[in-house]
Order: sequence, then C-alpha cells, then structure tokens
Amino acid sequence: MGLARPLRVAVVVSGRGSNLRSLHEKASEGNYLIVGVVSNNPAAPALDYAASQGLPKGLIDHRAYATRALFEEALAQAIDRLNPDVIALAGFLRVLGADFVRHYQGRLLNIHPSLLPSFPGLDTHRRALEAGAREHGATVHLVTDALDGGPIIAQAGLHVAPTEDVATLAARVLALEHELYPYVLKRWAHGEVATH
Ligand code: GRF
Repeated sequence: MGLARPLRVAVVVSGRGSNLRSLHEKASEGNYLIVGVVSNNPAAPALDYAASQGLPKGLIDHRAYATRALFEEALAQAIDRLNPDVIALAGFLRVLGADFVRHYQGRLLNIHPSLLPSFPGLDTHRRALEAGAREHGATVHLVTDALDGGPIIAQAGLHVAPTEDVATLAARVLALEHELYPYVLKRWAHGEVATH
C-alpha cells in the first residue's frame, strides 16, 4: 500500500549520532522523513552530521536553563516547530520529566542498547557480559516517565559469543540498532505499530 505522505520524524540527540545517520540514510526509501534534529549538547557530532546533510537543526543547551522544567519547555518548543508525527530519541542523555513525556504520549520513541527489561540504564554491554547473558541486543520502546520502562515496540537480538568483549558486543549491538530503528519507523509509517 502506498503512503499518502511520509511520516514526519524529529530526531533528538546528545552525542555521536550514528543512529541519526542510519535513520537518515534509510529515509531515502520514502516511508519517513527526518524533519529536523534537536540536541541538548552543542558539541554533539550528530549536529555536524545534520549540518552536512542540510537537515534543520536546533540546539537547546540544558545548561542555559535554570530548571529541568524550563529546559524541557524549550526543548518541546523546538521539537513542535518541526511539526513531527513521531519524536525519535537517539542517544539522548537527559532523563525527561512527566510533563514532557505526557505532551508526546504515544509518539515519543527511544532506542536502548539492551533487550529490555534487562539492563535499563547505562553501561549495558559491560553489565550484560558480567551477568553472563547468553543473549543481548537492542530495543525500541515508547517513552514513559519510567526510565527505559515504556512499552516495547520491537527488539533485535544476538547470541553473545564466548570470546566477546565489551567492544565487540557494543559494535554488534550498534549494527542491530541501525537496522531496528529505521525498520520501526517504516512499520509505523505504514500504520503497523500499535501504540496504545
Ligand atoms: C545507542 O547505543 C543508543 O541505543 C543509546 O545511545 C547510543 C547512541 O549512539 N540510547 P549514537 O549517538 O546513535 O551513535
């Protein structure tokens, strides 16, 4: 079935931006469109990538705001100016408050480098290895105010090899992320993701 129009996606970042890149590269298939990139970090390489691709970009530096509520209000304004259907957090390193999350209820996505509910939070690859996990991977989920705890939309997994170290595991999971996030947005664009 053809699409009436591509899904409008705003990508929200803090750092490297490899997920932004894979999302943007796969947007050329026409299912969704990156309408802009917003960062809280002025030094994020993701912003350089956005500039190099001519993607609209915005900077809302959390350090310029006296409270988290004021920062989140400015962040939401920057996002809303892009008029997105979906907001994709991609390596965004701030915890978001209840008001922000409610504002985007059902259309705020995150990608997390573990098979949730295992290993929410940071340093997931090292923790997975230390726990002796046999399987590991990545999750795309809806964001709620529970840290990495919103409804799961899709996961991609791998078997942890006996010889694996943090670096090899991180690289293999990242490669999965780069397939998973575009896949979810494509399915979403076709109305194939249940969000409630
Ligand atoms: C990814 O591993 C993502 O799952 C996590 O932060 C990392 C961001 O990487 N939330 P990048 O900035 O997309 O390269």
